[in-house]
This record gives sequence, C-alpha cells and structure tokens, in this order.
Amino acid sequence: MPNLSIRLFSNQIFFSMLKDIKIIKTINPDLQRFESSLDEIIKLYDYFPDKILQYILETKGKKIRPSLTYLSAHLFGKPTISTDTAALIIELMHIASLLHDDVIDEAKLRRKQLTVNSKWDNKTAILTGDFIFSLAMKIAAQTKEYYLFDLISPAVMDLSLGEIYEIKFSNYFEINKEKYFQIIRLKTAALIACCFECGAYSVKAEKNEIETAKKLGEIIGIMFQIKDDMLDYIGKKTGKEIGIDIKDKKITLPLILAYHNMDEKSKKEIENLWENVDERNFQRIISLVVENKGIEKSEEILFQYRSESKQLLEKFSNKKIISTIKKLIEYLTVRDK
Ligand code: FPP
Ligand code: MG
Repeated sequence: MPNLSIRLFSNQIFFSMLKDIKIIKTINPDLQRFESSLDEIIKLYDYFPDKILQYILETKGKKIRPSLTYLSAHLFGKPTISTDTAALIIELMHIASLLHDDVIDEAKLRRKQLTVNSKWDNKTAILTGDFIFSLAMKIAAQTKEYYLFDLISPAVMDLSLGEIYEIKFSNYFEINKEKYFQIIRLKTAALIACCFECGAYSVKAEKNEIETAKKLGEIIGIMFQIKDDMLDYIGKKTGKEIGIDIKDKKITLPLILAYHNMDEKSKKEIENLWENVDERNFQRIISLVVENKGIEKSEEILFQYRSESKQLLEKFSNKKIISTIKKLIEYLTVRDK
C-alpha cells in the first residue's frame, strides 16, 4: 500500500509478545508501515457495511505472518516495498481464511472478540472473507508485484486442500500421525513457508537461500499448529474458546498420541465419550489425553522440530536476525496464547 503514516501500536498483546522476545527493535519500523497500510484500507473502504472491515482489521492478531515475512527479508537484505506488499497480502489472505474457518468451525471467539459469524452471521462472514481475499489480489495487481501470485496462490490452494482433508479425515479415530502432519503442512505450514519464501524473494535472495528459508518457514508453521492444537487442551489465554477442536470432534496430535498410548479400556471409553461431547465428557476427554501423555508427547515432537529449525538457521549468516528468529521460535514453543 502507498504512503504510510506512523501509528503507535494499540495492541497490547502483540506489543508485549514482541517486547518479550525482544524483536521489536528489528522489525518495529516494518510493522509500523504494515499497520499503517491496514489503517489505509479501513479508511478507503469505510463504506463497507456495519464497519465490519474496521472490526476485523483493528483487532490486531499476533501478526506472526507479516513478522516472519519481514524477518526472512532481513535475513538476506533490507525489506523493500515488495516486502511490504507481500506481508500485507499474506496477512489479508490469512484473515480471509480465518473468516471462512470460523464459519466452518462454528467458532464464537477469535482474538478475544466475537467472530463475524457469531456477531453477524455466516453469510456475512463468508462474503467479507471473499471481499478481503479479492482485495489482496487487487493490491498485488495494482502494485505490479506479479511474482506474489506465483508464490501465494499455491499456498492458498494448499490451505483450502488442508481444510478439506481435515473435514474428511480428522473426525475418525483411524486418523494417524502421518495424516495429521499432511493436514497441518497444508492448512498452516504452507502459508508460513510462503511468508519466508516471499520475504527472501522480495530482497532478491539466491534461489537456494529462498528454498532454505521456505523450508524453515514450513517447520515453523508445523510447530505453530502443533502448539495451537496443544493449547486447545491446556490453553487459557488464547482469545479463542478452549476445546473447540474437541467440541468440533476434530482429532489432533495430543489425542492421536494419547490414543496410541491407551489400553483397550481407555480407548473404548474415549471413543464412547467422543460420541457425545457434553461438558462432563469434555472434561474427561481432556483428562484422558493428559493422563495418557498426549500433551507430553506432542511437546517432544514440537521440540524435535525446534532443533531442526535451529539447525536450518545455521545455514544463514546474519547472526542478529538468526538470533531474533530463534527467540521467535522459542516464543512459539512456550506461548500460552
Ligand atoms: C485455522 O485452523 C485455519 C486455517 C489455517 C486455514 C483455513 C483455510 C480456509 C478456510 C480455506 C481458504 C480460504 C480463503 C478465503 C483463502 P484451525 O481451525 O485449526 O485454527 P484456529 O484454532 O485458529 O481456528
Ligand atoms: Mg478454526
């Protein structure tokens, strides 16, 4: 987006997260430009009914994707206007996908506020998602950053495919670790990989550097989703309802790992509880998953990915940015929101 005015962050959660992990200095100017672009969009489309765009865009999320796009650019150079466009478009695509996802999941809360589907209705949420999705494409075309279509569209296709696979496979106890990882690679990791790819591409990194950055993004994306799925069982401050996956009968890593650790009696018990997830059964499912080491074992896998990501980071040379990304990875593994 053009002309960017500076605005202070209003989002305390995001601000404190960045401050916690001390990355604010590195990408603060970048994120300020990013925030200003969102403000401009709000102004430009203030005719959008019921100020829905404002409602969505002013609720700053964790801004993980733009942060990662900028950090990837910093690994190889200095962010450019092209990086700004990439960060903005990816976040808009992400927001559009969340609007649709909340309809699919019948979610009531996101980022500590009512979802569009619950404050308004499903139709409004879908159409607002479509509007934001198309707006992202319009910005890419207007800024003539055509490479973004090449890099982002396959990632967004992966998102949709991941969601479809999830609907198809994740409600049944036959789901295994391999299927789970196939789903999260598509629905979450692909877009985060794309952030790294676009960030690196936007500053003209070498082909092999772009590939390594993309691989790192994929691993970070996988870690992000594993943690997200763990927080569905044990989280308190996510700004979303806890246990929505369980209530939605979505089987994720903690349950897959716990189930394989269970004796036949517990397996039968959890399968029966799954038939009717009322409040009492819900609590018992959480206990069974925790008792059978679903969280512990998920964390072990999370830590394996963390080591892998740190090894990949060693391939780069910008020590300051490497250390910043390591802190972000640390935050992603220990976060409780
Ligand atoms: C969140 O998963 C959802 C996604 C990562 C992808 C959603 C993608 C689509 C609905 C298809 C793409 C649509 C467009 C318009 C581009 P989650 O439900 O596990 O996470 P949550 O806890 O944050 O809801
Ligand atoms: Mg969801």
